[in-house]
Amino acid sequence: MAIRQTDYVAPVKEGYAHFMLKEIHEQPLTVRRELEGRIQDGLVDLSALEIDELLTGINKIYMVGCGTAYHAGLVGRAAIEKLARIPVESDIASEFGYRDIPWGKDELMIVISQSGETADTLVALREAKKHGTKVLAVTNVVGSSIALEADKVIYTHAGPEISIASTKAYTSQLLIMYQLALYLARQRGTMEEEELKKIGNELNRIDTHIDTIFLQEEKIKQLAERFTHVQNAFFLGRGFDCAVAMEGALKLKETSYIHSEAYATGELKHGPIALITDGVPVITVITQDHLAEKAMVNINEIKSRGGTVFAVCKENLQMLCQNCDELILIPDIHPVVAPVAAVVPLQLFAYYVAVLRGNDVDQPRNLSKSVMIE
Ligand code: G6P
Repeated sequence: MAIRQTDYVAPVKEGYAHFMLKEIHEQPLTVRRELEGRIQDGLVDLSALEIDELLTGINKIYMVGCGTAYHAGLVGRAAIEKLARIPVESDIASEFGYRDIPWGKDELMIVISQSGETADTLVALREAKKHGTKVLAVTNVVGSSIALEADKVIYTHAGPEISIASTKAYTSQLLIMYQLALYLARQRGTMEEEELKKIGNELNRIDTHIDTIFLQEEKIKQLAERFTHVQNAFFLGRGFDCAVAMEGALKLKETSYIHSEAYATGELKHGPIALITDGVPVITVITQDHLAEKAMVNINEIKSRGGTVFAVCKENLQMLCQNCDELILIPDIHPVVAPVAAVVPLQLFAYYVAVLRGNDVDQPRNLSKSVMIE
């Protein structure tokens, strides 16, 4: 159910107070749709998309997008490098053209864009094509400029996204990123089939994991109340969690207008920790089992400087995270696919903070759904 520019249907909130909340709650359905027919016995098969020719023999990927789409690309980079062992460079589209890339042979650009009309992303796409590099687009809109100009397209099936702050389109983009990573890994034999199946099966259950997170919505709302008068907030994460923290910070600033910045947890000590004083709120994402202890060392540094720490952490890591002030738990899922679940509490959190601050949640000031100027 990718959307066509010609099939306009008047959007309805279906009882939700805002489109953003409706779209957050649609995610179990939209991620499910993203998987339909693509995973057999735990293994991803994208042959029906006819992109094999584009993927064969590539030795480098440029992953490009803006805003939320860029953040989806960061998760994609981590997944493709880890599973398929192909080097991936991620960049924000608005800067891409200034890099003067030394293009090589057998490279691929993947552009990600919900609207398919973002001017910066389109410019980056054209730059790649000018140098003979093939482009694969991941977009939500059939017939959009990006879809038309790319060599091949994978459509997300998020359906129309009305809220300016992107939620369901982001998780759909993540699902495509994982499918690409798993498919490339399978084609190249870079991972044991059993491990690929484990991740594929986990991806297949992601809708039920998201459903479980909604059980904590009331708690997330209560935490949001503590942010009604906050001026600044920091988001932290390591590895996959860093990309999720960046998306969480973007959601909060877009909707609530709180100055929120994301840092790689390990980078905190190289400057940003100077900003941590009594009561400064820090939201941290802790889903990567092998990095959790390291994360807690940094969290304790924040605590000892008076910071207040809220953690989104996996159930199995909650004992380790006890020193945090509040925990939002997500199910104990495979760390590679954890970003799909970990972002949901952050979306809800941003939504409730914005509502409590009386903001226009679906149409935040100064933002538009698709930016068609450079
Ligand atoms: C705008 C929106 C963001 C979005 C970005 C990229 O800035 O406000 O929410 O992430 O564009 O949009 P795209 O349609 O290319 O994904």
